[in-house]
Amino acid sequence: MKNGTCWLDDAGNLIQAHGGMIARFGDKWYWYGENKDGPTLREGGVGYRVDVIGFSCYSSYDLQNWHYEGLALEAKHEDPNHPLHPSQIAERPKVIYCENTGKYVMWFHADTADYILGAAGCAVADRPEGPFTFLYWTHPNRRDCRDINVYKDPVTGKAYIIHSGDWNHTLYFSELNDEYTGFTGNCFAQLAEQTREGGTVCYHDGLYYCVSSGCTGWSPNPTLYATTRYLTTPMQLVDNPCEGPKYRTTFDGQSTYIFEAEGKFYLMLDHWKKEDLQKSGYSILPIDFDGEQMTVTWQPEFNGLV
Ligand code: GAL
Repeated sequence: MKNGTCWLDDAGNLIQAHGGMIARFGDKWYWYGENKDGPTLREGGVGYRVDVIGFSCYSSYDLQNWHYEGLALEAKHEDPNHPLHPSQIAERPKVIYCENTGKYVMWFHADTADYILGAAGCAVADRPEGPFTFLYWTHPNRRDCRDINVYKDPVTGKAYIIHSGDWNHTLYFSELNDEYTGFTGNCFAQLAEQTREGGTVCYHDGLYYCVSSGCTGWSPNPTLYATTRYLTTPMQLVDNPCEGPKYRTTFDGQSTYIFEAEGKFYLMLDHWKKEDLQKSGYSILPIDFDGEQMTVTWQPEFNGLV
């Protein structure tokens, strides 16, 4: 698969899984993301958007051949005020398995078309493919929630949503409760006043690394990584980890998620095409570590677990 371009599923259709994540559940990999398979609309000066269709789920045994499993969570057409109504914004779905309940829990950025609401939406399913049932939307710990991720700390076992808040000024970690469908009230800020989006975390050799983008809408900007020895103590921004052509604009992409496969970390990027969002491309790039330095080197192709 050519990095930076659109990718096809095993039926020859465009993979529609933007702002997504890849996770392993059982013996398969699952890719969740925004289905943007519709016309890009420009309305009221608030920018480019596609009506909400829902969140796609794809499955794979090798991270290369992807099978469409359908919409894991579908748009709700009946109620114009429902956060999944086509006229709203539903972005960056992330799924985490809850061992306590045996359920798959999805968190996503739920918003109004003008991006004023800034909320987190929650849905649950019995199977990774869904269908997910929408539960509610909320402002976690009374904070706004824009770009969103989930993270399970391998050291403490605690799970969090990571969300850009305070109008994107600060990244918040809101700890999930035992069912992962609500919050414990434990919430801490990271990268305060650094205006980061697309935040995603991995833990390597005693250090947490948080990769994030700047905040320039659909336009690319430099990625930065930050590190901390303890997740709850302040991270320090270190550097741009990207190496290769267009490293200053994240190879014209934006971070969405870090996943681990066979002991190696990979960074997923979206290559947004703001005037035709359904044609936005993807990259999956290996992450390398040298001491406490993180590097994401451009590779023209990602060919799964070869
Ligand atoms: C980006 C964000 C995307 C989307 C876009 C809308 O900054 O990362 O997920 O919300 O803004 O302009």
